[in-house]
Amino acid sequence: MIKQSTITEIFESSKIEDVVGDFVNLKKRGVNLLGLCPFHGEKTPSFTVSPAKNIYKCFGCGVGGNPVNFIMEHEGLTYPEALRYLAKKYNIAIEESETTDEQRQEKQLYDSLYLVNDFAQKYYEQQLFETERGKKIALSYFKERGFREETIRKFGLGYAPEKGNTFTLYAVNKGYKQDTLQKAGLTTSRGRDFFRDRVQFTIHNLTGKVVGFGGRILVKNVKAPKYLNTPESEIYNKSKILYGAYFAKRAIRSQDECIMVEGYTDVLSLHQSGIENVVASSGTSLTVDQIRLVKRYTPNIKIIYDGDPAGVKAALRGLDLVLEQDMNVRVVLLPQGEDPDSYLQKVGATAFREFIDKNASDFILFKTNLLLDEAKGDPIKKANLIKDIVGSIAKIPDPLKRSVYIRECANRLEIGEDVLVQTTNKLKMEHIRKQQKQEERDRRQAQRNRTTTPPDESWPDAPPSDFPSEIPPDLEHGFPSDEPDDSSFPPTRETRSAPPAVDASSKVIVGDEFQEKDIVRLLMSFGEEEMEEGISVAQYILINVEEVLEAFDHSFYKKIVQDCLEMLKAKTPITQKHFLQSPDQEVSKLAATLLTTPYEYSKNWEEKLMNPLQTQPMPEKNYKKDTVIAVNRIKLRKVNKLLNENQSKIKALQEQGGDAMDMIKQIKVQQKLLQIREEIANLLGTRGAIK
Ligand code: CTP
Ligand code: MN
Repeated sequence: MIKQSTITEIFESSKIEDVVGDFVNLKKRGVNLLGLCPFHGEKTPSFTVSPAKNIYKCFGCGVGGNPVNFIMEHEGLTYPEALRYLAKKYNIAIEESETTDEQRQEKQLYDSLYLVNDFAQKYYEQQLFETERGKKIALSYFKERGFREETIRKFGLGYAPEKGNTFTLYAVNKGYKQDTLQKAGLTTSRGRDFFRDRVQFTIHNLTGKVVGFGGRILVKNVKAPKYLNTPESEIYNKSKILYGAYFAKRAIRSQDECIMVEGYTDVLSLHQSGIENVVASSGTSLTVDQIRLVKRYTPNIKIIYDGDPAGVKAALRGLDLVLEQDMNVRVVLLPQGEDPDSYLQKVGATAFREFIDKNASDFILFKTNLLLDEAKGDPIKKANLIKDIVGSIAKIPDPLKRSVYIRECANRLEIGEDVLVQTTNKLKMEHIRKQQKQEERDRRQAQRNRTTTPPDESWPDAPPSDFPSEIPPDLEHGFPSDEPDDSSFPPTRETRSAPPAVDASSKVIVGDEFQEKDIVRLLMSFGEEEMEEGISVAQYILINVEEVLEAFDHSFYKKIVQDCLEMLKAKTPITQKHFLQSPDQEVSKLAATLLTTPYEYSKNWEEKLMNPLQTQPMPEKNYKKDTVIAVNRIKLRKVNKLLNENQSKIKALQEQGGDAMDMIKQIKVQQKLLQIREEIANLLGTRGAIK
């Protein structure tokens, strides 16, 4: 696989005029070069090469793209083949991604840490089952708590002996280096065993490798902490670990839900009673990494809280980050004083299941009710509560979900929906601005670090994750493999099979193709430009268009906008270069086309209406105005579309004499849509006259 750095170098070095010039006779024409198109027969040249933009474009047949596109098309090569062709032309040494010395060393360290942890796990297990003291005080403890031997074996539970350095001596004797034992957190800097006289819970990563331990105290000693956990190490990063994930992942996937509990013993108990889709956050508040881990398997998460209302309130505050990850969160509060383990043992598995099913409530509504109870009759508390709830809602990326919550919460809080909408939007904008400032700070910090840290310490790539993913390596690097994949992007297949056919050169316009394309054009051409203070054109467009994205007619443009949304979330800058150099040929070619084609207005009445507003010949100068208009226009069209659809639904309901509640619902939707249309029309200065 070709390294990304090499690909970048190839793109940076390849000059379109040279690459094309090898095959086409080009003549200078102003800032561009002109020749006869090699892709269609022509007598007068319309094949244009722009050295400034590093792209080609034929105004006769519509083809266009970057140097790699040209070679692929002209020579009939695949993407990697074209890259190799250009590398050869420009004498660029191709670096395949394989391991460097530094990476090898890192890997050796990881391997040795995994090995020594595995060794320790076996040792603790043997201490548990085969030593006098282990059996007498540790194994009997587990049994008393109701854990069966198969569960104890499966989860690799153990016992760490009480004497000062028994384990360390044994391990060193077996050839393990004290240095490695220390790095793994099994031995203290003074050479003593880190875990002494504790029952051991083994912590596995997602692939089942042992990365650490949680040791629970046996005696009711007042001073020592109940649990001692492996200190952070190269392979154990507490914030990225979910206890039990290795044993739960299959069940999480098959049941499409993850149950989250607080403690090690909760996981064991539930698992043992057949509830296997369970993991523990191990007492800490949830982290983004932990959520992302769950998200690989399911978007649905059910958090079971110990019956401790004060603790729950604290935990709820930290939960917004789960919403940001667009997870469906439900919470269950156990009866006072119970944790999942104790409650399950008390009532049995069937009643336990029933309880959590019956008492699971939606996170935001749960939070609203809980805080509302508290704020009764206290206007200041209530104001704060509203702020709090709105803060949570603003974090939900899905606009549809957001609006549902806004409606529901407005109801419960007894305030106007519009107030909630406004506050939410304001918060969203603030959030984005804050993020940008933080990014700017991070960037500056990173720059400073680069100039002050010796190069060997600033190892740039993330070390192997604690949870090696199951994604094939070439996908992980974001580089397409040579094999065709089965995704529907680019959607050529789709559009070709779905009549009426549409492609770049066809003149058949489907639905709102023109308006959707214009959104893509603005994203590609001006995405990086500033729209208003702190907000880029891309952000402005995406925040607005996200709401109507589902109604896009053209799947290719829809996919591009969706990808931009992903980039926005990942904080990847949306630049012209990104599109022009996209490994996806359809995208890079479209970018080349849109960036060279003079701006055209459609002949629609709607554009005619708005023409007085548009004063280009030079669209570059008017991108702000264009963006506002394009965004409002597409929203208007989509709202009209939804209105029509909804109207048909109402009609159908009328004809069938359908359910009255359904009817009321549709009519309410209709009113809402009409209101939105009115608002947009006002913004566009066209009033409600549009139908
Ligand atoms: N925990 C910790 N350090 C502590 C206390 C708790 O790391 N001093 C973490 C452990 O991962 C523990 C979880 O928080 O499993 C929940 O704490 P708790 O409910 O006190 O422990 P349980 O797992 O319920 O243990 P037990 O049933 O033995 O009380
Ligand atoms: Mn507990």
